[in-house]
Amino acid sequence: MEEIIRIENLTTAYGNRIIHRGLNLTVKKGEILSILGGSGAGKSTLLKVMLLLKKPLEGRVYIYGVDAFAMTEAERDALRRRMGVLFQAGALFSSITVGENITYVIRKRHKIPQDAACEMAIFKLRLANLSDEVFNMYPDQLSGGMKKKAALARALALDPDVLFLDEPTSGLDPISADDFDRTISEINRLLGTTVVMITHDLASLRISHRVAVLSAGRVIYSGPVKGLFEVDDPWVRELVNGERGRRLLGGT
Ligand SMILES: Nc1ncnc2c1ncn2[C@@H]1O[C@H](COP(=O)(O)OP(=O)(O)OP(=O)(O)O)[C@@H](O)[C@H]1O
Ligand SMILES: [Mg+2]
Repeated sequence: MEEIIRIENLTTAYGNRIIHRGLNLTVKKGEILSILGGSGAGKSTLLKVMLLLKKPLEGRVYIYGVDAFAMTEAERDALRRRMGVLFQAGALFSSITVGENITYVIRKRHKIPQDAACEMAIFKLRLANLSDEVFNMYPDQLSGGMKKKAALARALALDPDVLFLDEPTSGLDPISADDFDRTISEINRLLGTTVVMITHDLASLRISHRVAVLSAGRVIYSGPVKGLFEVDDPWVRELVNGERGRRLLGGT
């Protein structure tokens, strides 16, 4: 399978605090990859590296085979345009409607008339499994699950090749979380969008093709979800061997 992102020997830091040390990870075209790891393990920072927003101290990040931090800023910008993101604290602008939130993103990129942008935005809302009425609603009028899907619609606004999601279902009730996961799975299947999803939620692993586990600054496991049961790490063992882990992941 074609690699969209390849991270080699990544080291990152904030000041003199090292976050990743010699981390390797690849993202394959068309997959849903979930990234797991304890709080503070560096998951969001890794996402920022993949979005080319955080520069590595060492190592290489190849996007479509090209060394992304050896390019000009303009070239990196062009790559970023092919990425959609739903940040951990990512919220829509609350003073404008959901529709305006999405058309704003579209019209900033494409010089198209307002009504064409509105049609595109409604299409994105439908992709995110929201009804057309949501277009004219304000973020505060939406439930938690709808807000996340509206933010997803905005992340889809520019037809990204890769969609990055940072704990999209945290804070949602289990039914809304399942609904969100199904929506992601559907988008991946219908559009072929590659998805990189950070999650704390074992239930989300059901829609993942592969999972990567971050610990002590490295990826200590990447592969099928089933393989998590063999990972020699206390945090992972506790996560997957509980009653909930066995139930959700179908372990023995
Ligand atoms: N801008 C920043 N400046 C300084 N330190 C930071 C910054 N962003 C993150 N950190 C630190 O880097 C470490 C990794 O943070 P990161 O947000 O990547 O972790 P995470 O795995 O996403 O955690 P969580 O599961 O809580 O979201 C944390 O200790 C955090 O405090
Ligand atoms: Mg985080």
